[in-house]
Amino acid sequence: MELLKCEGLRKVYGAGDSQVVALDGIDLTVQKGEFVAIVGASGSGKSTLLHILGSVDRPTEGRVLVEGTDVASMNPTQGAIFRRRKVGLVYQFYNLIPTLTIRKNILMPLMLDRRKPNQEYFEQIVNALGLGDRLDFLPSQLSGGQQQRAAIARSLIYRPALLLADEPTGNLDRKNGEEIIDMLKLSNRSLNQTILLITHDEKLALEADRIITLEDGRIVSDHLRNRAHGPGL
Ligand SMILES: Nc1ncnc2c1ncn2[C@@H]1O[C@H](COP(=O)(O)OP(=O)(O)OP(=O)(O)O)[C@@H](O)[C@H]1O
Ligand SMILES: [Mg+2]
Repeated sequence: MELLKCEGLRKVYGAGDSQVVALDGIDLTVQKGEFVAIVGASGSGKSTLLHILGSVDRPTEGRVLVEGTDVASMNPTQGAIFRRRKVGLVYQFYNLIPTLTIRKNILMPLMLDRRKPNQEYFEQIVNALGLGDRLDFLPSQLSGGQQQRAAIARSLIYRPALLLADEPTGNLDRKNGEEIIDMLKLSNRSLNQTILLITHDEKLALEADRIITLEDGRIVSDHLRNRAHGPGL
């Protein structure tokens, strides 16, 4: 099933002499359950693409369809609800709310909709992410890796159609970074979670099913890799 489709995406920042073409004609289709790595030099347009796919930002031209719905056709309220329910976003910095416990941070997207969590699913993700004994702590009482895992738990709580991660391991040492990638793989394999991951790290990119390389706002290569299922993953 085609989960994401974008056509003719262009993004131009600024005007006149200071104009920057950040995306220059991106066509891309992602199937449900794919784990895609996006790589490319600094300034090649990776974050811009992710923000547009997650409807945090709008393209100058072109369109984005998620599960067949044109995200640009939504009004601001519909857009906010769409982002909360359909798209999980994870950044390099965890963006947890410092005054709320880890439990409340993770449940925040549901609380905003006055929804009750599915307890079984909540436990499944916090246990998989090794946060079971940290739920009543504040973010400042957790390590960087634990905070990033909490940010991932929050992004997964709505079982989003699409998980978008921008350098989620950029702020972590290799061991913690590998653990985060293992968690993303686990959610991809066990929940069939569709993931787009931006990374500078070629070794991490090799964990994905598909690697897309951007250069100057264009896709210059798009390779499928053999999807190998390891035990439990
Ligand atoms: N808000 C903005 N205003 C003007 N130009 C911008 C803005 N955001 C990004 N750009 C420009 O668009 C281009 C693409 O930026 P983008 O952040 O998408 O790159 P990136 O591939 O994510 O780089 P990095 O690996 O350094 O994070 C860059 O030339 C950048 O300077
Ligand atoms: Mg970036």
